[in-house]
Amino acid sequence: MKIVMLGAPGAGKGTQAKKIAAKYGIPHISTGDIFRANLKAQTELGMKAKEYMDKGLLVPDSLTLELIMDRFKNDDCKNGYVLDGFPRTIPQAEALTEALKNNNDSLDYAIDVDVPDDFIIDRMAGRRACLDCGGTFHVVFNAPKQEGICDLCGGKLVLRNDDKPETVKLRLNVYHEQTQPLIDYYKGQKLLKSVDGTKNVDEVFDSILQILA
Ligand code: AP5
Repeated sequence: MKIVMLGAPGAGKGTQAKKIAAKYGIPHISTGDIFRANLKAQTELGMKAKEYMDKGLLVPDSLTLELIMDRFKNDDCKNGYVLDGFPRTIPQAEALTEALKNNNDSLDYAIDVDVPDDFIIDRMAGRRACLDCGGTFHVVFNAPKQEGICDLCGGKLVLRNDDKPETVKLRLNVYHEQTQPLIDYYKGQKLLKSVDGTKNVDEVFDSILQILA
């Protein structure tokens, strides 16, 4: 199964993508997590990506495409994947369609987690992320068992640099300009499914399971 998760920053794509990946035994591939891991390891890619991420801008398509096409070569992608944060521009979506087509393959679903902008600002202020394993929590809606500590790996939970309210507003603008057009792109390919992302995490997941059933 090959799934693309769509939605604004903070809509809950990552939260749901991890649950889908666990349920179906497919990898969860988040370009944001890959960039952050590179940043932590201070690789050249990470340092380049940081320039854009901290400002709430998208990393250029050329860098992102190189990274993701390389990731698809891993053995764990044989039975599919759930993509979170990729594609994010029309050129990225076209490159993905083309790469799949070259292997006589195609996506199964593009799932849009629909959440209005007002909800997003509140959610992001309360998000805490683990920079060691990519785990994501929320101080109110999905609190870790021990404050400030990742339930999954024991790493330290932090407020991401790009989750500060002024950067979130910028990211939302970038989303509406560059990523939202993908909704029509996938509607045109008859792959689009939408779920109401304002419901709680389990209810959103139930809606997704009904689509995938
Ligand atoms: P990335 O890491 O992909 O960030 P994003 O798309 O902005 O998405 P987020 O991770 O912020 O949010 P999410 O929708 O996954 O929400 P989450 O599940 O955490 O990208 C970061 C940056 O990297 C980009 O800005 C860009 O610079 C760069 N980048 C990445 N990919 C790129 C690409 N393809 N091209 C170019 N540049 C790229 O949930 C948010 C919070 O809400 C959490 O605290 C969670 O616990 C909580 N929550 C989730 N669901 C619910 C719910 N139903 N109810 C209540 N709370 C909930």
